[in-house]
Amino acid sequence: MIDRDRLLTACRKVLDDNRRGDHTIPSGKMYPHQWLWDSCFIAIGLSHYDPERAKTELLSLVEGQWNNGMLPHMIFEPGLRYLPDRWLWNSHVNLNSPKNLTTSGITQPPVLAEAAKQIGDKLSPIERKRWYAQMLPPLIKYHKWLYEEREPNEDGLVTLIHPYETGLDNTPPWTRQLHDHHKPWWLPLYKYLPVDFIIHRFRRDIKRRNKYQRISNLDALLYLDIVWLYRSRNYEIKAILPHDKFLVEDLTYNCILIRANKHLRQMADEAGYNLPEDLLSAAARSESALEALWDHENKEYYSRSFSEGGLIKISSISGLIPLYSGAVSQKRARQLAERLKDNNTFGPDYPVPSVPVNSNWFKQHGYWQGPTWINTNWLIIQGLKDYGLDKEAKALTEKTLKLIEKHGSREYFSPLKGTPAGAKKFSWTAALTIDLLN
Ligand code: GLC
Repeated sequence: MIDRDRLLTACRKVLDDNRRGDHTIPSGKMYPHQWLWDSCFIAIGLSHYDPERAKTELLSLVEGQWNNGMLPHMIFEPGLRYLPDRWLWNSHVNLNSPKNLTTSGITQPPVLAEAAKQIGDKLSPIERKRWYAQMLPPLIKYHKWLYEEREPNEDGLVTLIHPYETGLDNTPPWTRQLHDHHKPWWLPLYKYLPVDFIIHRFRRDIKRRNKYQRISNLDALLYLDIVWLYRSRNYEIKAILPHDKFLVEDLTYNCILIRANKHLRQMADEAGYNLPEDLLSAAARSESALEALWDHENKEYYSRSFSEGGLIKISSISGLIPLYSGAVSQKRARQLAERLKDNNTFGPDYPVPSVPVNSNWFKQHGYWQGPTWINTNWLIIQGLKDYGLDKEAKALTEKTLKLIEKHGSREYFSPLKGTPAGAKKFSWTAALTIDLLN
């Protein structure tokens, strides 16, 4: 039996320890800034016991919104100590970036509507209406920006320009895409470069954790290279989309967007708001576009290459996220849920692995290439519940909670042995545990 109260108290303490004024950082030393989807998950947890703090968490995110509508994936903490992080991005080269704080120049999954809605659900009708009226303008601006800038073909699928934007940083489809299509001039010289020296200046993670649990130095350098490239182009989308061949119409991102659009419609209805027509038709396009990512042969959903148009046929946790979108048929949802029962793929003892255990890519502690993460479990659980697959949702909830009860709010876990890895006192693990306990 899970000791509910003890677990709740421990999780609340994590969120208190990681609180920094109006927002909460993901984890003390390893992730000292504010991240977009982290703060949304955190607000979902907070909404259960401190809706005011949950609101503040989201409002602080919105302060980082760019004039064009983009919500940046990171808002940097001020102070001399963090100058290298701010210098690296130097997003002020783009005139849309906010003046009074410093942010990154890319975005992250659009979980904001879900978080705003979850907070709304816990408020009285009058307060809810007021809250939605506060959140709808930045949310509409963000979703409009996504379609205006990132859906140039009007095919319903938005395109991501950096692996960080998916939130599943080095998930195999992205890693493959990058290795195949991003070949900076220095790549042939890589083995002769003082890579460790350069990389260690920017990598907080391997100073603190076993490097075999983290992204490889080559991949980390490729990620930095893309940031430098975009910075040199002032983060102008017109200078990016036609040139870079590694861009991805990302499955997880688009599934989250489809659900977020539905939340937006519900929030607008409740607050008596009219959503712009172009946004409504873009949202409808997205829902039907999901089918284009289904592969009939393998019976699986995949991300798609933006420049080449082909599916990137490498299995990953993303293949289960269509459950969360709510846009697949009941039959398809059942088919996806079946995969959770297969020990060789997504159903080992401590599910759900970020890569199926029988994949060549699988490493039980390899960052986004094997471990179980609590936020993706949470997305899958929401989806299972919505499709009425309550037994499956309950089973996954129990397994998830047991893992955290045993090892604490760690960043990720081995799906084979349950052993914890990555950051300790990780905020979204704590916050989503609170939600699952409720
Ligand atoms: C890593 C994760 C990303 C998360 C960030 C902060 O980059 O891949 O999803 O937002 O850490 O926790």
